[in-house]
Amino acid sequence: MDAKSHYVHQAHHGRTYQEAHKSRQEAVTKPLREYHNDVKNRLIHRFSREVEDHLDLACGRGGDAWKWVGARIHHVLGVDIAPSLLDDARERIDIIRQKKPDHDLTAEFMESDALGKHDIEWGQTFDTVSCMFAAHYLFESKESANQFFENAAAALKEGGYFYGTTICAKRVLALLGKEKEYRNSVLLIKALWDQPSKFGSGYTFALANTVTNHSDEADDVEGGATEYLTFFSVFTKLAERHGLYPVRDLNWSFGRNKRSRRDTLFEREPADHQEAFRYFQPQFCAHPNSQEQGDAAEADNGLLSDLEKASRLYAAFVFQKDTSRMKRSASDDGQPVAQRAKLNA
Ligand SMILES: C[S@@+](CC[C@H](N)C(=O)[O-])C[C@H]1O[C@@H](n2cnc3c(N)ncnc32)[C@H](O)[C@@H]1O
Repeated sequence: MDAKSHYVHQAHHGRTYQEAHKSRQEAVTKPLREYHNDVKNRLIHRFSREVEDHLDLACGRGGDAWKWVGARIHHVLGVDIAPSLLDDARERIDIIRQKKPDHDLTAEFMESDALGKHDIEWGQTFDTVSCMFAAHYLFESKESANQFFENAAAALKEGGYFYGTTICAKRVLALLGKEKEYRNSVLLIKALWDQPSKFGSGYTFALANTVTNHSDEADDVEGGATEYLTFFSVFTKLAERHGLYPVRDLNWSFGRNKRSRRDTLFEREPADHQEAFRYFQPQFCAHPNSQEQGDAAEADNGLLSDLEKASRLYAAFVFQKDTSRMKRSASDDGQPVAQRAKLNA
């Protein structure tokens, strides 16, 4: 199922947003959701703290709205392809306004299917741009991926950060091995390609109790939206073509802070040798007060290890806009080879 049809059907079936939220909180994938929220929260706090204008691409239900408030962002524009999710996002902002009337966040939400199709007239530039758990939908074709980076880069101020989270093609392929399908207790991946390639290699992906599943409240895994293999080397090359570069010497240590007990969020080394990416490093352990033993404890451990496998498919990325570097490398590329060879001699 394409991403738009899938996410349009992700409305909360007439229940209030609070009811849907409660059910998800109780869900089996809670540790994964908490860890993924921690990752997003720390990225937002690190890169968008107190910024004036932030753009969130593929914002979904605005699940990061409280994080924006916490980071004291002044204004956020959220863009998504699915109108029903944007209604939820607006409702969430209204609830925040009631609960915390003194915060100064303003947010607008825009429905658009143009992200991978044509230039979006932003009408302004943003200090930071994020894209959480969604860039992999844009790798449907080379054109769509290129357009995605064009739109992200055009929206960003010079020196601004483009950051987010996405899923790694190489890890998906490793999990599948020689098979066309991978299934564990929380995750279902079905390859739709004959031969995997840089663009347009679709697979259905469903993670229990998340919006990727056929019902985001279901414990069983079924269906799922079509995502596309996203190779980090290809991602980096396209990003650079649009003036977005990995940040040199970025401190990727996201150690403990007052809200998080985790020692480290990410693997130390660049993911797939790409400097702008770091793999998630979740450590889901059994609850220390759990009285369960024997079969129940074993089932818990099996589930936690399945959750870890799902989470370790993901990485965070951070790029920074540097148009002058892009112009320099474009003019280098434009040099006749002989002349460049002379210059390099
Ligand atoms: C897994 S959800 C992530 C939502 C949100 N960023 C978060 O982290 O909670 C993926 C989102 O990508 C959106 N999406 C998929 N393809 C899109 C496109 N071409 N343009 C805009 N949004 C898209 C879906 O509608 C959905 O809301």
